[in-house]
Amino acid sequence: MLDVRDLQVAYGAAPALWGVSFELRERELLCIVGPNGAGKTTLINTLAGVLRAKSGHIVFDGRDISALPPHRFCAAGIALVPEGRRLFGGMTVVENLEIGSILPAAKAKRAETLAMVLALFPALKEKLGQAAGELSGGQQQMVAIGRALMARPRLLLLDEPSLGLSPLIVTELFGAIRRVHREGTAVLLVEQNVATALRVADRAYVLEEGRMVAEGTPDALMQRDEIRRAYLGV
Ligand SMILES: Nc1ncnc2c1ncn2[C@@H]1O[C@H](COP(=O)(O)OP(=O)(O)O)[C@@H](O)[C@H]1O
Ligand SMILES: [Mg+2]
Repeated sequence: MLDVRDLQVAYGAAPALWGVSFELRERELLCIVGPNGAGKTTLINTLAGVLRAKSGHIVFDGRDISALPPHRFCAAGIALVPEGRRLFGGMTVVENLEIGSILPAAKAKRAETLAMVLALFPALKEKLGQAAGELSGGQQQMVAIGRALMARPRLLLLDEPSLGLSPLIVTELFGAIRRVHREGTAVLLVEQNVATALRVADRAYVLEEGRMVAEGTPDALMQRDEIRRAYLGV
């Protein structure tokens, strides 16, 4: 479904990704894990069209989208839940959600999709008229995920949704992410929280210093000593 080949991305003269290749199979829940500074955000932002690769290819559903202008990635069916959520704190929850559905195809289904988002995150029902900035961190992350879903993506990209949240909230959020996936949306999740990510993933890659260093099922990765030592503290 997504085929990434030899992606090189740099900030000015400083390379952040050194030729990253991976694939996301049809409707897979794929995780890319790695420590702080590995290049996870750089990678996911490039896949969302926010950053442009210096070289390499992003093939989505058989179409090379690497050269598309940023605003066309959303129309192509890709939506990003950015690191740090990036909500409009002074705007209401429902206004934040509606921003996700500004393209005509999504706008036509706005009411239906909003109902779907509220079924996924019932806690947001009574917060719709409240300023997004007043919500708890967990609820803000729900709004950020909901906003991305409002675009009706076929591929949902999530950048460290667990960051700064309590284990209980993380479990709840990941339950919702799994449900979105089960209902037919492909999911690419990048996470520093390796234990949690591996619990939900179909398959995972390990990114270190801008390079993919390992790939496998969660079980296979967790059996590798170097992965256990580096990421699971055992
Ligand atoms: N805006 C930027 N300008 C320059 N360097 C950056 C910028 N953003 C990230 N980097 C560098 O790129 C590398 C990868 O960062 P990032 O993609 O944010 O990693 P991660 O999300 O895995 O923590 C790091 O060395 C980081 O310092
Ligand atoms: Mg990051």
